[in-house]
Amino acid sequence: MVQNRSPKGQAGSVVIAGAGAIGLAVGWRLAQRGARVTVIERGEAGRGASWAAAGMLAAGIETEPGEDALFHLNRRAQADWPDFARELRQASGIDPRLRLDGTLSIALTRDEVERLRAAKALHARFGVASEWLTGDAARELEPSLSPRVAAALRVAEDGQVDNRLLTQALRAAFLAAGGMLEENTEIHALAREGGLVVGLETAHGPRRADRTVLATGAWSAALLPSLPIRPVKGQMLALGMDVSRPLLRHVVWTQKAYLVPRDDGRLLIGATVEEAGFDDRMTAGGLLGLLESAWRALPTIEDAPIVETWVGHRPGSRDDAPILDEVEPGLVVAAGHHRNGILLTPTTAELVAELVLNGRADPLLAGFTLARFSSKAA
Ligand code: FAD
Ligand code: GLY
Repeated sequence: MVQNRSPKGQAGSVVIAGAGAIGLAVGWRLAQRGARVTVIERGEAGRGASWAAAGMLAAGIETEPGEDALFHLNRRAQADWPDFARELRQASGIDPRLRLDGTLSIALTRDEVERLRAAKALHARFGVASEWLTGDAARELEPSLSPRVAAALRVAEDGQVDNRLLTQALRAAFLAAGGMLEENTEIHALAREGGLVVGLETAHGPRRADRTVLATGAWSAALLPSLPIRPVKGQMLALGMDVSRPLLRHVVWTQKAYLVPRDDGRLLIGATVEEAGFDDRMTAGGLLGLLESAWRALPTIEDAPIVETWVGHRPGSRDDAPILDEVEPGLVVAAGHHRNGILLTPTTAELVAELVLNGRADPLLAGFTLARFSSKAA
């Protein structure tokens, strides 16, 4: 018997599996709308992929051919960010340091210049405003770039947030809105009764709710094996910069690495993209490849200290786009954000909260159902 299940449209109770950026943001939005929300996390909130990320808001520069639905969702997210960051800062007292100062994608060789031209053509097709720069024009913007930089594309609309501050802010805003957070609580299984998902089975006992949201990132298939979500390993490192004379001001992409200057004096360099399961080791090859690519673009990093290295696991789906869908009665999935989960946080939170509360799927979600995988050729 399912008890106390509130009808759609009434807030009721919600239990969310996973306290990454996605689980916390969905929880915050639901709590703001009157739901009794509990987020369950096996470790500390915000220490999964959302901690490991580079925080780039790269709807423009990360556009890939064939990702039309994702592009439109990414674009909407980019537009949602300024208001979201403002509201989050007010609700939490923590500034996630949104910077919308643009991204440069650079080319050093003839082959890379041709790839940049292809990216420019793709931008034109998608309506992304990108500006072609000569090497000298790129160095005017970023004087430390190598003299070998031959050309660059500037995407003015892209930017970054500090993803670690973001999850701290989301945690605080969620709690301030009345949400409950249970950390250090392993989830073993979904709880089902009479064809409905009715909550979660955890190491500390069952947690029942009217509705359940699965936001366990790269680990989601362990709880729901029908999800085509796997870990995609990313190694990263951070160099220390003199904050009064930063090595870079813009996010810079090379063919094999990106560089993200933070306000706190760190220069992030990322990231490998590896099919290695949940392996969490930094490797010599991973570090070498990142440093070599970054050094070719910005030779002045040579003297900078390495202040941190880390590994994260992107929740990758078969088509690299998230699953945002009510997949069973009582169960909504918000997982599989792969390379764009930080960018997609505000929009995922809003659209998924609406889906959970009212059962209404925004038309933007049509491309992000679980059924899309069964209707395509394997
Ligand atoms: P997570 O943050 O991983 O949260 C899932 C949570 O669920 C975790 O805290 C985990 O402990 C918990 N959990 C899992 N299973 C269980 C269980 N059984 N019981 C209890 N708790 C459980 N995105 C961008 O937009 N821009 C970027 O620049 C960017 N760079 C990235 C760089 C790297 C190296 C990586 C790895 C990712 C990057 N991403 C980026 C992607 C982004 O980090 C992810 O898409 C996003 O963080 C996913 O958020 P999430 O909340 O779904 O997952
Ligand atoms: N979006 C950057 C990354 O996933 O590495």
